Amino acid sequence: MVDPAFDVVVIGAGAAGLMCAMTAGRRGRRVLLLDHGEEPGAKILISGGGRCNFTNRETPASRFLSANSHFAKSALSRYEPADFIALLDSHGITWHEKSLGQLFCDGSARQVVSMLVGECLSAGVDLRMAHRITGVRHDGGFHVETDHGPVSAPALVIATGGLSIPKMGATGFAYDVARQFSLAIVPPEPALVPLTFAEPAVSMMRALSGTACEVVATVGRTAFREALLFTHRGLSGPAVLQASSYLTAGDELTLDLLPGQDALPWLLTRKRERPRIALRTALAEVLPQRLAQALAPEEDAPPIGGLADRALAAMAERLKRWRLTPSGTEGYAKAEVTRGGIDTRALSSRTLEVRSVPGLYFIGEAVDVTGWLGGYNFQWAWASGFAAGEAI
Ligand code: FDA
Repeated sequence: MVDPAFDVVVIGAGAAGLMCAMTAGRRGRRVLLLDHGEEPGAKILISGGGRCNFTNRETPASRFLSANSHFAKSALSRYEPADFIALLDSHGITWHEKSLGQLFCDGSARQVVSMLVGECLSAGVDLRMAHRITGVRHDGGFHVETDHGPVSAPALVIATGGLSIPKMGATGFAYDVARQFSLAIVPPEPALVPLTFAEPAVSMMRALSGTACEVVATVGRTAFREALLFTHRGLSGPAVLQASSYLTAGDELTLDLLPGQDALPWLLTRKRERPRIALRTALAEVLPQRLAQALAPEEDAPPIGGLADRALAAMAERLKRWRLTPSGTEGYAKAEVTRGGIDTRALSSRTLEVRSVPGLYFIGEAVDVTGWLGGYNFQWAWASGFAAGEAI
């Protein structure tokens, strides 16, 4: 029998769950929002270096990965960046645009969490943190077992996110519920994640740890022109994080260390005009010094004027097409998001409801929709949460 106290139980008080609960609550639905963590919106709090990159100026579906590239369009078109901006504006939360359309709070990410929690509470949402979920049953209604006792409702929303950052409370709960209802799952993988490399590449990268430069990182036909950062274990930085979402094991990553510049004509001009300088000195004109030294390590090499054009062509090739095969990633401990998730074929793109189980919804990162770096993942959380919240 269904407990009459609630119209819907939302599990997961992260970005998507808060938006969904707020939206359903504003429509007069009686909402119970449950989470096993101590604090709602924990990932919002640490996002964007504490300033929350809450959306992007433009969020076309092409900036989201999914086995069905059209799936996200419906929800994204009904809750746009402007809608979230209007919500912030109505709370007097000021924001600014960084590069590539990324929007951040001027103050702190905590303002976003306070706004969402405040909206939930004023919409009558019953928010209960530190509740461990021990089981879900379905017999027409949904029965959620918790360590504080059972709760029931005719609708259930799963907003428990993906596997990234387990130490913050990430779990595979959404995938367990999907399996329980025989729904397909696109295998989850760490995404927006630093890449690791084997010897000899990793020794060079370790020596350059902390060095950053602008590159174009390409995987297959997808390319990102952003910063690269060398780390103790390999490569990170926005360009590499973006590329990581498109890599599968064994794929090659190609780096262009001189974006927008022709390397060989430039090297040949240097050879003609400044034949006495060392190659590493020439490279240091366009690259960080440590990287220039790593690429041209021989201190006793002849000056650039003494190098054959063939050798300069090989260096130009390295600068423009440095091909690397990662040995792996830094895993869920460092991954900003999880790609894959609940197979969208099971869901209505308009409402996020499971077609075969009326009343059951999956939203946010749990679903096989993964945004680029730059505010896209929060926009998907807001949009999918809104779509379900409007439908319940
Ligand atoms: P989210 O992970 O936010 O929430 C899930 C909730 O479910 C959590 O509160 C968790 O405690 C709860 N939960 C999990 N398992 C449970 C269980 N078994 N029982 C009960 N509760 C459970 N994106 C972006 O657009 N801009 C940015 O600036 C950043 N920055 C960023 C930084 C870092 C360090 C990370 C790790 C991630 C980002 N992201 C981001 C990604 C963004 O945080 C992420 O995509 C959204 O938070 C996903 O929202 P969800 O609500 O789907 O999951």
